[in-house]
Amino acid sequence: MEIEWTEDLETGIGIVDDQHRELFGRIRHFFSAADRRDPDVTLQTVDYLAEYVIEHFNAEEAIMIKHSYEGFPAHRDQHSGFIKNIYRVKQTIVSEGLSDELIQKLRCDLIDWLVNHIQVSDKQLADIQQKEVSRYKW
Ligand SMILES: [Fe+2]
Repeated sequence: MEIEWTEDLETGIGIVDDQHRELFGRIRHFFSAADRRDPDVTLQTVDYLAEYVIEHFNAEEAIMIKHSYEGFPAHRDQHSGFIKNIYRVKQTIVSEGLSDELIQKLRCDLIDWLVNHIQVSDKQLADIQQKEVSRYKW
């Protein structure tokens, strides 16, 4: 299972789509390091990924606050859960090393979470921006 960016993942919000593409790239870096079974480099890619995930979630949350989005608390909780999960992954790599099973599980979990989150929750952000635009149409 590879992580590939496809057009149906676009939300239509430029900054969010650009950041999602970057996120996919960083996840690919993580898995290519994990596939080489180098724990040190893999842990560095986890930090590299986590740093960007936090920056990206902050940007999305600022959009939600700006638009008084009522789904903000639930969406923010999903983000917090994902960040916690990344740090759990880091702990698991430190304590268990990189086994085929762990890498396979991470691949499924990370990609599954991210794609579902983008396709469902992040797409709803596009709707709030759309409403904002139509409110100003005369
Ligand atoms: Fe999100």
